[in-house]
Amino acid sequence: MVIFNMKGMNILESKKEIKSFKAMDILEKAIEMEDIIHLELGEPDFDTPKPIKDEGIRAINEEKIIYTHSMGMKELRTEIAKYYNEKYGTNICYENIVVTAGTSPALLLAIYVVLEYSHKKEILTSNPGYACYPNFINFLSGKMKNYDLDINNNFKMDINKIKEKITENTAAILINSPSNPTGDVIKEKEYQEIADLGLCVISDEIYQGLVYNGKQYDSILNYTDNAIVLNGFSKLFSMTGWRLGYLIVPDKFLSLTQKLEQNLFISANTISQYAAIKALTSLEVEKEVENMIKEYNNRRIITINELKKHNLKIAANPEGAYYMIIDVREYTDNSLKFAYEILEKAKVAVTPGIDFGSNLEGFIRISYATSTENIIEGIRRIGDYIKGL
Ligand SMILES: Cc1ncc(COP(=O)(O)O)c(C=O)c1O
Repeated sequence: MVIFNMKGMNILESKKEIKSFKAMDILEKAIEMEDIIHLELGEPDFDTPKPIKDEGIRAINEEKIIYTHSMGMKELRTEIAKYYNEKYGTNICYENIVVTAGTSPALLLAIYVVLEYSHKKEILTSNPGYACYPNFINFLSGKMKNYDLDINNNFKMDINKIKEKITENTAAILINSPSNPTGDVIKEKEYQEIADLGLCVISDEIYQGLVYNGKQYDSILNYTDNAIVLNGFSKLFSMTGWRLGYLIVPDKFLSLTQKLEQNLFISANTISQYAAIKALTSLEVEKEVENMIKEYNNRRIITINELKKHNLKIAANPEGAYYMIIDVREYTDNSLKFAYEILEKAKVAVTPGIDFGSNLEGFIRISYATSTENIIEGIRRIGDYIKGL
């Protein structure tokens, strides 16, 4: 029996092993300490744009507080489909959108539906990859099968390594671009290669839009119909606490997805749904989001320059999201211990690479979703600490 204690809030007893999130342990410890610079957080530091907040307040004042349709408000689903089609060049209908309380519940539904529908067990994911994926797959009695991303290849995917892992029991491949933790962005040729595998694809597109070199928005849906897309409002619109996300689901999975959404969640947060319509339709929000993307890019460039200045090695090619991987293999083979040392001695909170899979042991992840002052000072502290080793 394992106790799952994330942010000290959820205590869940289960026979399945759910791995504790080391980053959360570090965050909790960092919160108790003083004068800590937080480079571990995967959360935008920007406020939610005002028109979105105003719309949420309006919804409350006008008592828009009852459950919505289990699939979400038709108006929101229509705007999501329109937004995807305009920004991402896709061709989807509102009927295929299921609104959820964040991308995390969307992930739960997507994995369940694919396993149930296919009667297969294995989900392919990358190592390194988002730390929660193994827990979702395990919780749903699936079997995670990792394909390696190689440091010598900048942690880019190698389609042959994926092909080697496909068996007759493969239910789907789960991809994430832009990537948490590497910041890598899947390019057109790679999307095409993934589509050509002929597998069902679960595509976590939560960081789409946060891309800094070249094409800003892309989707697996431009390459195959056999895909479930996950996205949400947390990152691009700075709405983590509003808890709103969605799935784009092919017809064959729709009724199963709806049944599950209805039973597990009834509907997503009504107030947030009203606010999300504003997020997708307000020109003022669009401008603000563009400015946020520009600012993330500024910070990305500053982070790269500061790391170089302090002789810290950047692994991977950080073109999207707001994460960077630092190679600290010269100093440690235990990234968790190293992260605690950096916290205690340099007073900077970072995420140990091991949270994201064995291929990131010996690496740490930093996030540049924070002020430039914090980035510059945090990297200086890490650099000074490492120089003293
Ligand atoms: C890759 C990835 N997917 C999903 C999520 C969950 O996002 P949400 O806030 O929409 O549940 C996160 C959050 O950090 C993430 O990094």
